[in-house]
Order: sequence, then C-alpha cells, then structure tokens
Amino acid sequence: MKVTVVGAGAVGASCAEYIAIKNFASEVVLLDIKEGYAEGKAMDLMQCASLNGFDTKITGTTNDYAKTAGSNICVITSGIPRKPGMTREELIGINAGIVKTVSENLVKHSPETVLIVVSNPMDTMTYLAHRVTGLAKHKIIGMGGALDSARFKYRLAEALEAPISDVDGMVIGGHSDVGMVPLISHATRNSIKVSEFISQERLEQVKEDTKVGGATLTKLLGTSAWYAPGAAVSGLVQAIACDQKKIFPCSTLLDGEYGLKDLCIGVPVVLGAKGIERIVEIELSTAEKEHLQRSAEGVQKTNGLLNL
Ligand code: LAC
Repeated sequence: MKVTVVGAGAVGASCAEYIAIKNFASEVVLLDIKEGYAEGKAMDLMQCASLNGFDTKITGTTNDYAKTAGSNICVITSGIPRKPGMTREELIGINAGIVKTVSENLVKHSPETVLIVVSNPMDTMTYLAHRVTGLAKHKIIGMGGALDSARFKYRLAEALEAPISDVDGMVIGGHSDVGMVPLISHATRNSIKVSEFISQERLEQVKEDTKVGGATLTKLLGTSAWYAPGAAVSGLVQAIACDQKKIFPCSTLLDGEYGLKDLCIGVPVVLGAKGIERIVEIELSTAEKEHLQRSAEGVQKTNGLLNL
C-alpha cells in the first residue's frame, strides 16, 4: 500500500503522521514544491518511528512525481490555506491552477490511483480533478464531510455533556461556512435522538458552531487547522487501504442522487478498496433538503468560476 501526499505543509504532514501511526500503509511519499521541505518533514516523521512504534516508510521529494509512481491512493493538500476573515471560496484563483497541475501529474504516474482532494474550495477542487484527470467517478473523493462531522460530534458532546464516543452525527453538503448541513435529525447519543436531551435552541447553536468550525480555528491560529483535517484524511485513506466499507460523508460527483447532478458535494458514501463503493441516500427533513439545495447552488456558483 503506497500513499502519496502532495503538500508537506501542516495538513499534509499531519496526514502523513496519522497514516504512519495507524501502521497500515507500507509507504508514504510526501511531495512539495519547496526545495528540501518534504524531505525534511519526512525525515523528522521517520525519526518518530521508533518512538511511536510504526513501520511505515515515509520519504520526501521536491516535486519529483516519478517517486510517486504506482501509488494506490494520492492525497492533494497543496495550495494556499485561508487567512482569518477569508472564505474557502476566495482561494479558487490560486488553488485551481495548483490542483489541476498536481492531479494531472499524479495520474500520469499512478493511473490506477484513488484520489483524495483536500485543497479548498474543496468541492470545486474535487470537481476540477474529475474534469482534468478523467478518472472514474468512484475514484475521486473530496475530504470535508469527515472533518465537519468530527467537529459536529465535538460540539454535540460539549452541549450534551457526554463523552464523544457516545455521540454520532454527520454533516453533509458543501464544505463551506454556509453550505454545511449538520444533520440534527439523524444525530444520536447512544442511539437516542439528541433532541431527547437538549433544546432545539441549543441544537441550533451546535449547528452554527459546527458550520464555522474551520473559521473559528483560522481566527485563533492565524491560518487554517491541520490536526483534525489530517486525522480525517487518514480515516478515509485507512477505509480504502483496508477495504473497511466504512461510511463517511464525502464530496462525490452526483448524477441524480439527492436530486443533484453534475457537481461534487458531500453525501454519505461507503468507502472500500475501490474508493467510493456506494452513495447512500437517506431521508432528510424538509429544512435539511432545502439547505442541501441551497448548498448545491453555492457550490455550482463556485464551479462556474473555473476555466474549464
Ligand atoms: C478546515 C479546512 C481544512 O475546515 O477546510 O479546517
């Protein structure tokens, strides 16, 4: 199992670290355009191997895609992160060119790869990867929902005063402050609906805090977050690498599911060795349906800014 992570910045390096710690991949290649940077991060991470007890071999390369050849899974984290006050959509001008070049190079050297897109605006970058690589649609996965759902569970546990392991919940829709649709109607505490424990008003607050989860951290950190994004990617990579058939909300190309077409947006999918093995259609409340529709309109608008 060979995994390539493009972008050795904070998200890419955390992603490599979590993949290594989980010890399921034989090799992780970190690639960056900054001279020596990926090599340095890889060396630092490898020096954790004896301390953290993993055997995954991590190597770094400065933009040499030949070193990524034959990867089973490639992750794109490259591009610029947002600064406080910016939306993810504002990054499109710079990141679209980067994601286009990176995905073309990756697929040239690993034509059979599954591609995971993390760069923002993520849903639009996932759509772009489809258009430029021609990979089968089940092989292109946008990472956003796994992260947003982890943030939702964090906020739910806080409101419920319950341990996170007791809480389950999912966020679908676009990976943007307005586009995220936290599914309150499906959220549970040990299989009991969360509305049994807390007021509708408190749940609305959980929803709003979840939607601005990334923005809240960007304000605190001065740049976008990396631990939870890295952990979320490693979860998707593991589900594919180990053929787990786990359900995550991921951005995927829709063709009529949820009444949507010709865009990538977050919906629940089953992840296994082939990538996206099934799109799961679930019942939504009227408010959630309307929110998903508005979210899709937002993603389509951002997609319209691509020069395709
Ligand atoms: C975030 C970035 C990765 O939400 O989009 O933290």
